Amino acid sequence: MKSRTPAKVILFGEHAVVYGEPALAMAINLYSTVDIEKSDELLIDNSPPDRKYHSFILTAYEKSGFALPVHIRVRSSFSPSSGLGSSASVTVGTVSSLLAISGRWSKEEIARIAFETEYSVQGRASPTDTSTVTSGGGIIISRNDVESRLWRIEKNGIEWNVGRIDIKPLELIVASSGIRGSTALLVSKVNSFVSRNRFGMDVIREIGEISRSAITPLMDGDLETIGELMVRNNKLLNILGVGHELTTRIIDSVLPYSYGAKITGAGGGGSVLILPRERDAIIEKLESMGIKYFRVSMDREGVTLLK
Ligand code: MEV
Repeated sequence: MKSRTPAKVILFGEHAVVYGEPALAMAINLYSTVDIEKSDELLIDNSPPDRKYHSFILTAYEKSGFALPVHIRVRSSFSPSSGLGSSASVTVGTVSSLLAISGRWSKEEIARIAFETEYSVQGRASPTDTSTVTSGGGIIISRNDVESRLWRIEKNGIEWNVGRIDIKPLELIVASSGIRGSTALLVSKVNSFVSRNRFGMDVIREIGEISRSAITPLMDGDLETIGELMVRNNKLLNILGVGHELTTRIIDSVLPYSYGAKITGAGGGGSVLILPRERDAIIEKLESMGIKYFRVSMDREGVTLLK
C-alpha cells in the first residue's frame, strides 16, 4: 500500500505553537512516498531498521498498532531537516499505509498517531507539521476554537484545535540553506530560553499576536501586510535563538525584492520562506549565492493513497 504525502511550510507561528499560541501553515507541492508490503521480517529500504536512523518510521510503526512484519520503502523529493516537514511527511505516509492495510484509514486517526510519534521522538512537539501534511491546504492551529475545525488534539494540558483556513493562492519561493537543523534540539533550545528569560514568554506571545494578525491578510491576499508580518515574525525567531548566519544572509539578500521573508520551520539553518515581489531578481540572487530553491504552491489533497 503506497501513500503520497506533501511537505509543508509554516507561514507564521513556529515554536510559539508548541506553547499553545496559534500557527498558520500550508501544505506544499513537494512529496514523499511510503510504500508498505507485508514481509517475513521488518525491513526499511531493504535493511533491518536502526532506531538511530529510522526513529520516526519505527515509532510510527509501533504506535499504529500493526502486529505483522512489513517492508517499508521511503522516497522523498525534499531533504530531511530542511524545515519543510520531512519527518512529518514520512511519519504520516507510514501511518497512512499501515492504517490502509488494516482497514482503519482516516485522516483524523493518521494525524493523531503521527503527532504522538513526533511528540515521542522529539520529546516535545505541536501537531502543526503532522496535521498540515495529513490534511493538505491552509491550516490554522490554535488553543482557541477555530472555524472549520478538522480535529482537536491534546497533550500534557495543552489543547490544539486544527482547522482549515482559506488562504488566497500565494506564489512562494523556498530557499534551502543546506544546513540541517535538528527540530528536537531547536525545540529544546527554545524551551531553555523561555524558562530562563523573564521575557521569554513575552516573545512567544508576541509571535502568537503576529499569527492572529496574519489571518485576514492571508485570506484577502494582502501581500504587503503578509510580508511585513513575516519580517516581524522572523526578528522574534532570531531572538528565540533559532536563526543562523546563512539564513540571515539569504533573507537580507532577497528582502529588497520581496514583500517579506522568514525562517520557516524549526530553523537553525533549514529553509527560508520568501514572498516575492520581483521573482526573477530573487532567483538571480539565490543562484549567484549558490543557494538551492524551490518555487512552491499549495497542495490541497494532503496524504493520499496511491494503491
Ligand atoms: C517545526 O516545523 C515546527 C516547530 O514549531 C515544532 C513543532 O511545532 O512541533 C518548531
